[in-house]
Amino acid sequence: RDLAIGVDIGGTKVAAGVIDAQGTVLASTRRPTPSHDPVEVAEVVVELVAELRQSFEIRAVGVGAAGWIDRDRSTVLFAPNLAWRDEPLRQVLADRVGLPVVVENDANAMAWAEYRFGAGRGHSDLVCVTVGTGIGGGIVLNGLLHRGAFGIGAEMGHMQMVPGGHECGCGNTGCWEQYASGRAVVRAAREIAAESPEAALRMLGGRQAADLTGPDVTAAAQQGDPAALACLEQVGHWLGQGLANLAAVLDPSRFVVGGGVSDAGELLVGPARTRFRSVLSGRGHRPEADVVVATLGSAAGIVGAADLARS
Ligand code: BGC
Ligand code: NA
Ligand code: ZN
Repeated sequence: RDLAIGVDIGGTKVAAGVIDAQGTVLASTRRPTPSHDPVEVAEVVVELVAELRQSFEIRAVGVGAAGWIDRDRSTVLFAPNLAWRDEPLRQVLADRVGLPVVVENDANAMAWAEYRFGAGRGHSDLVCVTVGTGIGGGIVLNGLLHRGAFGIGAEMGHMQMVPGGHECGCGNTGCWEQYASGRAVVRAAREIAAESPEAALRMLGGRQAADLTGPDVTAAAQQGDPAALACLEQVGHWLGQGLANLAAVLDPSRFVVGGGVSDAGELLVGPARTRFRSVLSGRGHRPEADVVVATLGSAAGIVGAADLARS
């Protein structure tokens, strides 16, 4: 069988799995991300790959990382939410594991997985948005992953939505990911809790506003808590606004929304869809992309990275 290892380097954990040509995860393993030090992270990747190779014959390794990867799929040029600058990740890993390695942007890998095996199947013009700590994007055009002239296309989380708005890890202000990410959910929840503690009681569950997390908000929203629902609605609204802008440029037939925040499902995507439809340019006179929740969940990153390494 044609097996590859996919690795997903995230801010909190490094996940790795053995994936076959049908996108099935045959085995998987994970470790906490040791620090943001690239050398230590590479060491963890090497260990996870070694562990998985004990039981499987592997042909290649694909790594998804939350940063701007160069056109050669080897160097992490920049990472707004990690300390990585100009890191030759592919070379470091290839030397250590002795297999072909490709490095890909994490959201590109997820988009590719959803296109090949998930909610984007059959949509050869597809945009996938991963809503996690930040916003990641992946664009499939004509059945191919769009990487751009320098490898860093689809950095849609850094489109400016609010001039002079919140500061972003990329150095600019008002980026989309400051308004429609997990971080934005938490910011909205803390604001509501500060302004009106009574309204936020259920969401807080006896804790301080400063301790609220995104998953707390999702859990409270799922139980119908109005304050938590309002947070997701606000963030969904921003999400839909960005999707409408992307539709104006890229005209996909489908948007897939994934990432941790998409665990909120329709509670987030419903408001996004509503906003998308109400601001889409040419609405009423044009076909409209649908907006759906990703289906591969947290496995998308490893599945996509492995598939890109294989091909
Ligand atoms: C980064 C992207 C990454 C995304 C999701 C953004 O801040 O610029 O490279 O794909 O976060 O991790
Ligand atoms: Na991307
Ligand atoms: Zn930014």
